[in-house]
Amino acid sequence: MMPKATEFTAAVGIEVPLICGAMYPCSNPELVAAVSAAGGIGIVQPLSLSYVHGYEFRAGLRYIRSLTDKPIGVNLIIEKSSKKYLQRVHQWLDIALEEQISFFVTALGNPNWVVEQARNAGATVYHDVTERKWANKALDAGVDGFICVNNRAGGHAGKLSPKQLLDQLLVFEKPLICAGGIGIPADYAEVLAMGYAGVQLGTRFIASVECTAHSDYKSAILQAQEKDIVLTEKISGVPVSVIKTPYVEKVGTKAGPIAKWLLRGNKTKHLMRTFYSLQSIWTLKRASLQGISYRDFFQAGKSVQGIREIKRAGDIVREFDAAMPDMPPQN
Ligand SMILES: Cc1cc2nc3c(=O)[nH]c(=O)nc-3n(C[C@H](O)[C@H](O)[C@H](O)COP(=O)(O)O)c2cc1C
Repeated sequence: MMPKATEFTAAVGIEVPLICGAMYPCSNPELVAAVSAAGGIGIVQPLSLSYVHGYEFRAGLRYIRSLTDKPIGVNLIIEKSSKKYLQRVHQWLDIALEEQISFFVTALGNPNWVVEQARNAGATVYHDVTERKWANKALDAGVDGFICVNNRAGGHAGKLSPKQLLDQLLVFEKPLICAGGIGIPADYAEVLAMGYAGVQLGTRFIASVECTAHSDYKSAILQAQEKDIVLTEKISGVPVSVIKTPYVEKVGTKAGPIAKWLLRGNKTKHLMRTFYSLQSIWTLKRASLQGISYRDFFQAGKSVQGIREIKRAGDIVREFDAAMPDMPPQN
C-alpha cells in the first residue's frame, strides 16, 4: 500500500508534505502563493483574503493563481454561528470549486456537505481534529484525511501532544497531518519519523518575508519563548494561543462570569461566540496591520521557541524538505 505521505502529496498534487495553514488575519495572497510555488501548499483563509487584505474572494484566488500555477487550498470554518455566515461559506465553496481549487481544509462543524460537493468535483477534504471523537464524526462525513491539531498549535490549540494524537488516530488509516509546534526542520523530521504523513505550519510563516503582518508582530514572534504562549478565551470563547504581551496581561485571558454563563447555554453559546468573534476579527486585523501602535495582541503557537529569523517562505519550505527523513511505510 502507498505510504500515507505519498498518498497526501499525490492526492493534493504537491512535492513537499508541508502546508502553510490558514491564518486569520495573516494569510495574505503573496504568502499563500510563495509556499505553493516552493512545492508545499498554501491555504487561503477567505475572511482574511477579503476583510483584511481587500480582495473579493474570486478575484483574490485569481490573483494568487497569477503568482503561481501550483496547487493552493481553501480553509472553510463551517461552524453554524449564524445563517448569514454559513451562506457565505457555501458561496466560498461554490466559487472555489468553479476556480478549480482541489484541496479544502475544514474546521469545526460537520464537513459532510463540503465533502459531498468536493467529491463530485474530484477535490480532497481534510478536517481539523483535536481528538478521536471529532475524527470519528468527520470520518462518517467521508473526509480524506485529518489535520491533527495538538496542544502546541497556534490558533485554536488542542489538548493532546503530537504523539498522543497520532496514537489515537492511526487506527483510521487516513493520512494524518501534524499541526502545531513545528518551527524548525528538526521538529518536522521528528513528526514525520513518528508516523505523520505531513505537517501544517502557521506561526513559522508569519515570520516570513512574504507575510504582510506588521514588523512588531514578527519581532514579537522572534523574541518569544515557548513559556510566553498562553491560551486566551477572549478571542472566540474557546482557548486560542497568543503571546503574553503587556496588553494580554492587562485584559486577562479568562472569559468573565456572564460570558462564561452564556457560553455554557446551548442557545446562548452561539450568540456569545459570534459576539466574541466579531469583536476579535476587528481587533486582530488592526493589531496585525498596525502593530503595537494599536495593540500588542498577537496570535502564535509554541513553535515560537525555534523561530529566530525572518526568512523567505520558499526557503523555509526548502530547508524543511532537506530535513525530510526516509519515510517509514505506514501500512
Ligand atoms: C495567527 C493564526 C491564525 C490562525 N487562523 C486559523 C484559521 O483561520 N483557520 C484555521 O483552520 N486555522 C487557523 N490557525 C491554525 C493554523 O492553520 C495552524 O494549524 C497552526 O498555526 C499550526 O500551529 P503553529 O502555529 O504552531 O505552526 C491559525 C493559526 C495562527 C497562528
